[in-house]
Amino acid sequence: MQNIFIRCCTALAILAGALPVFSLPGPTNKLATRQDSNRYVMAHFMVGIVENYTVDNWIEDMELAKDIGIDAFALNCASIDSYTDEQLAFAYEAAAQVDFKVFISFDFAYWSNGDTARITSIMQNYTTHPGQFQYNGAALVSTFVGDSFNWAPVKSAVEHPIFAVPNIQDPAWSGTATTSIDGAFSWYAWPTDGGNSIIPGPMTTIWDDRFIQNLGDKIYMAPVSPWFSTHFNTKNWVFICEDLITVRWEQMLEMQPELIEIISWNDYGESHYIGPYSASHSDDGSSQWTEDFPHDAWRIISKPYIAAYKAGDRTPTVESDQLVYWYRPTPKGVTCSKDPLGPPNGINLLSDRIFVATLLTEPATLTVTSGSQDSVSVEVDAGIVTTNFTMGVGVQSFSVVRNGEEILGGDGGLDIQDSCDYYNFNAYVGSF
Ligand SMILES: *[C@@H]1O[C@H](CO)[C@@H](O)[C@H](O)[C@H]1NC(C)=O
Ligand SMILES: *[C@@H]1O[C@H](CO)[C@@H](O)[C@H](O)[C@H]1NC(C)=O
Ligand SMILES: *[C@@H]1O[C@H](CO)[C@@H](O)[C@H](O)[C@H]1NC(C)=O
Repeated sequence: MQNIFIRCCTALAILAGALPVFSLPGPTNKLATRQDSNRYVMAHFMVGIVENYTVDNWIEDMELAKDIGIDAFALNCASIDSYTDEQLAFAYEAAAQVDFKVFISFDFAYWSNGDTARITSIMQNYTTHPGQFQYNGAALVSTFVGDSFNWAPVKSAVEHPIFAVPNIQDPAWSGTATTSIDGAFSWYAWPTDGGNSIIPGPMTTIWDDRFIQNLGDKIYMAPVSPWFSTHFNTKNWVFICEDLITVRWEQMLEMQPELIEIISWNDYGESHYIGPYSASHSDDGSSQWTEDFPHDAWRIISKPYIAAYKAGDRTPTVESDQLVYWYRPTPKGVTCSKDPLGPPNGINLLSDRIFVATLLTEPATLTVTSGSQDSVSVEVDAGIVTTNFTMGVGVQSFSVVRNGEEILGGDGGLDIQDSCDYYNFNAYVGSF
C-alpha cells in the first residue's frame, strides 16, 4: 500500500539538539525601510503530486486560495519528475488567467548545488511572466532546504531582478550567508527544538525571533501551519499542534513578518493541507489518513487572520457568526489492530481534547457534547476564540446560543471511535 517514494518534505536533519543561546530582539520595525510595504501570504503547493493537472484544475485551486486572500502559490517542484516543466507552465498560465501569482520553490531534497544551469533556465523563462510573483520589483524564488545554493550566478545570468528567499535551517547562518540571498524562509512551523525533534506545545516564536534578529535588513518569510502528522514506514510522527492554527495566526498578527507562507495547500502526506482533497493527485499512501478528512474549514479561520495581517491589525475582524471544529478520530491510547507500523512518535505529548474556534460578531454561549462526556457550556467573546473540550467516544455535537436562540450548531461529521485498523492522527475539520 505504501509507496516508498514519499512526496515531500520535512526532512530537516542539520539542527538536531541545542542551539546557541542569544538574547532575543525587541519588537522589530523593519517595514518602514522596505520599498514594498505590502504584506503577502503564500501557500506551499506540491507540484510533484499533480502530474495530470489541467490548467482548469490549477484555476480551481487558485480561485479557492484567492478567496481567502492568499496571493501566490509556492510551487514546490522536484528535478526528477518528467512532468515538472509542463505543470510549471500550466500553473503560470492559470495564474495569469485569473490574476493570481506563483513562484518556484525548488525542493532540494531533489535539486542540488550543481543544478545552477537548469535553475537559471527555468528562472529565465518565468521571471517576467504575468503569473510570476514579484517582490520589490524582483521575481521571488524560494526553496525547501537548499540552504547553501548560491543564487549569485543565477541572478547575474537572468536579466530581470530575482529576490531569493530560500528555506534556511540555521538562523545564525542566514545572517552571514554569502550566497546572495535576500531573505530567509523558515520551515519551523511546529513546536520543535530543531531537526525534527518533537517537543510539547504550544508553539512559541523562538525560531522566528532568531531569524529576525540574524537577518538584519533581509526579509523574513514566516511559516504558518495548522497541523502535522505523518504515518509512513520511513516517517512516522506527529508534531504537537492541537490549536496551532489560531495560536500561530495570533503570533503573526503580533510579529507582522514581511511575508508569510502557509504550509501547506496540498501536502496530504504530512496532513497540513488547507486546500480541498483534490481528485486528480497521485497517492503515495497518504490517502489512508487523508481521504474523508476534510480541512477546508481551516480556510474559514485563515481568511479573517490573513485580512488582519495585511491590514496591520492585531485582531481579526469577524463579519458573520461561524463555528469551526477539529478533532482526531480516536483517543491516543487506542491500539489499531491491523497497523504494521505502530503508533507515530510524539503522540504521548498530545492531549485527548477536541477544538472549537468560534468566529462571533457578539458574545454567545458555546455548548459541546463530546461523545460520552457530559455537556460543557462556556461563555465566549466576540472575535475568534479557540476553546477545547475533553474528548469522548461517540457523536460530537456543537451548539452556539445567543439571547436564548441557537444561532449555530449540529453534529460533527465524524464520530470518535475507540477502535481502529490503522493509526490516524490527522484532524477531521468541519464547520457550521
Ligand atoms: C518555458 O516556458 C514554456 C511555457 O511558457 C514551457 O513550455 C517550457 O517548458 C519552459 N521551459 C523551461 C526550461 O522552464
Ligand atoms: C495520470 O495519467 C496517466 C495516463 O493516463 C495515468 O497512467 C496515471 O495513473 C495518472 N495519474 C494520476 C495521479 O491520476
Ligand atoms: C485547553 O484550554 C485551556 C484553557 O484555555 C488551556 O490552558 C490549554 O492549554 C488548552 N489545551 C490545549 C491542548 O490546547
